Amino acid sequence: MALAGERRGDRRPSGCGAQACRPPLEQADRPAGAVGRGGSQTARGVRAGRLPACIPRHPARRDRHARRRPQLQARVRGGGRVISAEPFDTPIVTDRLELRLLASSDVPAFHSYYSRPDVCRYLLFEPRDLDTITEKVAAHAAHVSLREDGDYLDLAVVRRSDDRLVGDVILKLAHSDQLTGEIGWGFHPEFQGNGYATEAATAMLRHAFGTLGFRRIVAELDPHNAASAALCRRLGMRQEAHLVDNLFSKGEWVDTVVFALLAREFSTGLA
Ligand SMILES: CC(C)(COP(=O)(O)OP(=O)(O)OC[C@H]1O[C@@H](n2cnc3c(N)ncnc32)[C@H](O)[C@@H]1OP(=O)(O)O)[C@@H](O)C(=O)NCCC(=O)NCCS
Repeated sequence: MALAGERRGDRRPSGCGAQACRPPLEQADRPAGAVGRGGSQTARGVRAGRLPACIPRHPARRDRHARRRPQLQARVRGGGRVISAEPFDTPIVTDRLELRLLASSDVPAFHSYYSRPDVCRYLLFEPRDLDTITEKVAAHAAHVSLREDGDYLDLAVVRRSDDRLVGDVILKLAHSDQLTGEIGWGFHPEFQGNGYATEAATAMLRHAFGTLGFRRIVAELDPHNAASAALCRRLGMRQEAHLVDNLFSKGEWVDTVVFALLAREFSTGLA
């Protein structure tokens, strides 16, 4: 339930992150032949308004282009896609769990684990008191759709057999223009070791990639958080970075590891 610098998984390294350094999609995806010093026939034709930007004039190049077309079209569509801003109104149901929006009645259950030092050890905040939890639950329950960068969905994870709240999984819209999100989680120790976090996070990833239209989801965590790293690996996420001393948290400089998963990897690997 922690966000915007409160959870290790939600803190973005300051300075020039990998996302910020990449060229914008339009530039990276522009087909060869439509750019250059202005000398090619295609470029001149495009400027003169005679040719669509992506169709080469030379027959041999046009053949090559036709063979590459599905790929080009997919990339163009990807660049023009948006994350769904529809409000989350239907709970996600899995074999053993239900993921639903938070409610004020969840305060005691949330407090029972976010007040614990062991649960908060690798989070950016110290254990919370009841008043703080009450405020946070109210704030998070009000976030029901992903419209702007920084918006998030924090879903309560409820065990269907007895309606107990066992944890929560959070999804943040990190960069809407790159279709990139960030995932995080917290589970009560009483319910850990049962695969609930794996089941709930898999459902959240399916929702993110399938329903909402994300193409890349990352998780950022303390490298000492072995349980969280193991969860990332169970989900099929790949460790892409280990940032050294990039964050000042709880009185010391700490490292961050970054895990990531692409939509196409999720659909081929897990779905
Ligand atoms: C990170 C965290 C959610 C992981 O919880 P977890 O219980 O280890 O994860 P899962 O629910 O997926 O359970 C996996 C364990 O259950 C076992 N398991 C039992 N039944 C299972 C099933 N049906 N499916 C999958 N795993 C199952 C697995 O073997 C695994 O056990 P192991 O750790 O001994 O290998 C938890 O440690 C946590 O909440 N930590 C505190 C908050 C925190 O640090 N959040 C992360 C911030 S970045």
